[in-house]
Amino acid sequence: MIILKSQDEIKRIADACRIVAEALGSIKKIIGVGVTTIELDKLAESFIISKGAIPAFKGYKGYPASLCTSINEQVVHGIPSNTKLKEGDIISLDTGVYYKGFYGDVAATLPVGKINDAKKRLIAVTKEALYRGIMSATVGNRLFDISCSIQCYVEENGFSVVRNFVGHGIGRELHEEPQLPNFGNKGEGPTLMEGMTLAIEPMVNAGSWEVVILDDGWTAVTKDRMPSAHFEHTVAITRDGPKVLTEL
Ligand code: MF3
Ligand code: CO
Repeated sequence: MIILKSQDEIKRIADACRIVAEALGSIKKIIGVGVTTIELDKLAESFIISKGAIPAFKGYKGYPASLCTSINEQVVHGIPSNTKLKEGDIISLDTGVYYKGFYGDVAATLPVGKINDAKKRLIAVTKEALYRGIMSATVGNRLFDISCSIQCYVEENGFSVVRNFVGHGIGRELHEEPQLPNFGNKGEGPTLMEGMTLAIEPMVNAGSWEVVILDDGWTAVTKDRMPSAHFEHTVAITRDGPKVLTEL
């Protein structure tokens, strides 16, 4: 069942989303060569707690951190470690909060120092794919119109969308129905209605879409070890169109 939210509930989700967006903003500022991903996680956690919120990922199905840090060929769910960021890396930062009964979820991929043109294009295409998806999130459209917009744009640009992980409904739970694949057919899936809140999160691979999970049980990497990028926003569907709640 897809849970529809009232305007008041959307306001409360927006409060959680503002905190998580600010947390991401503060982490972005310290990204640079030599910084470890553990340092990023510590900042995420202390920032979130300082706002009176709770890190949503820590302890989720046993996940050990407040932030997912996925570098280069890592697709999602990279676990923070003592690894230092290097010039030319790209890093996906994904974090979530729980605040006064509601969740917010956001992710972005950033360059470390100077990156090559292929990685620049991968980041730009993934970000634009997210916005194409968001633009399709309007009342009366179908769920997989969002998926189709994302897939189409990504494949037009010669990249591939990951199949094994999906976007999701969000609200009183981090993951609610519906699941939102980043591939699908226009005109299919549930009809989008006012009050739906979705975390839209394309994961885009430079090479093939296939991923494998490392022995830590979490880190998803591309099978061909080519780079991957990930962007995510929490979005409310309103009668005035899609409202991005995790934008500062
Ligand atoms: N943004 C991701 C998701 O929604 C990451 C959550 S997995 C966790 O689905 F384990 F890290 F929490
Ligand atoms: Co998510």
